[in-house]
Amino acid sequence: MKQIKLFDPVIDQREVKKVVKTLKSGFWASGSGGGQVHEFEKKFKKFVNSKSCVSVNSGTAALHLAATLCDIKGKEVILPSLSFVSTAHAIMYNGGTPVFVDVDPHTLCIDPVEIKKKISKRTRCIIPVHFGGMPADIKRIKKLSNSNVMIIEDAAHACGSEFNGKKIGSHSDLVCFSFHPVKNLAAPTGGLISINHLGHKKIKKILNEKRWCGITNRDEHYYDVKQLGWNYYMNEFSAGLALIQLKKLDKLNQIRKKIAKRYHDEIKLEEKMPYQKDCSYHFYWIMVKNRDKLMQKLKQNGIETGIHYRPIHKMSMYKNKKKLPITENAGKKIITLPTHPNLTNSNITKIISKINKFL
Ligand SMILES: Cc1ncc(COP(=O)(O)O)c(C=O)c1O
Repeated sequence: MKQIKLFDPVIDQREVKKVVKTLKSGFWASGSGGGQVHEFEKKFKKFVNSKSCVSVNSGTAALHLAATLCDIKGKEVILPSLSFVSTAHAIMYNGGTPVFVDVDPHTLCIDPVEIKKKISKRTRCIIPVHFGGMPADIKRIKKLSNSNVMIIEDAAHACGSEFNGKKIGSHSDLVCFSFHPVKNLAAPTGGLISINHLGHKKIKKILNEKRWCGITNRDEHYYDVKQLGWNYYMNEFSAGLALIQLKKLDKLNQIRKKIAKRYHDEIKLEEKMPYQKDCSYHFYWIMVKNRDKLMQKLKQNGIETGIHYRPIHKMSMYKNKKKLPITENAGKKIITLPTHPNLTNSNITKIISKINKFL
């Protein structure tokens, strides 16, 4: 029985050729002459229609660096707990305090009503997550913020998603993407900060330095360091592959949407991800009471599923007594289903029928 994977990047001969070409070029690290990182930034900027883009070596690095620009030390940052830990770690790296709020039961994205309850003079930043690719209500969130409160979108799941007719990446001052192999745009590792702030040129320069150990004013072998930086540069293999993946992203996302539509229409459950055309469906979620049993059953039938996520505020490091009922309900019942474009129609039919039989 062939296994149905939860995530599976879509590759063809173009990716294979690109890897070999990059390998043979001898330019593996960026900055050394390959130029693909710069090329990718240019193409991604055009794709999302933002003012500037800086690529890095992971979504975590993107969030970390974006947060260094927001002066959050000793201040509060509002975020959903239903996310990957990097969303919260980015705040901790910068000496801020995460304030977890609950999510909307329909979309599982951060709930603007809950943000309103928690926003205060101590709030410096809000990090909405576009959960599973479903766009969070950035418009309402923006209305809640003021000149002292910045928004960093965590768009790790939302490559190709849209909000109000515009690609995610073009709305807020700082938008962070991940190109981890499981993501809609897959690379070995990778991330990117899309910048829409009026001072985007200055921000790009600062981020360029921060992603490479603070190095500035390079003149051949001579350079200076004026601020702390990290080794967060994207490598040439990731940039080369990301360039190819970007070309097919919209087409692949259309396939993801068709799969999600079938799940939405055919799975006989009330609690499941809504269907929306502006969502890029990084994954599709359902909620069931006896999750472990269903996951086991699907596994026996060669179907891999996942749990996204066990809430961050329940992790030992972040543990607090805060009650987030909708997040906690999802944390106990959520199952994520394969949505990648390598699925065949019969794979999808099998997944749906096994779930419906179990219910
Ligand atoms: C919501 C979210 N934010 C951030 C990240 C971090 O991205 P990366 O794995 O590229 O560091 C992920 C990765 O899974 C994620 O799902």
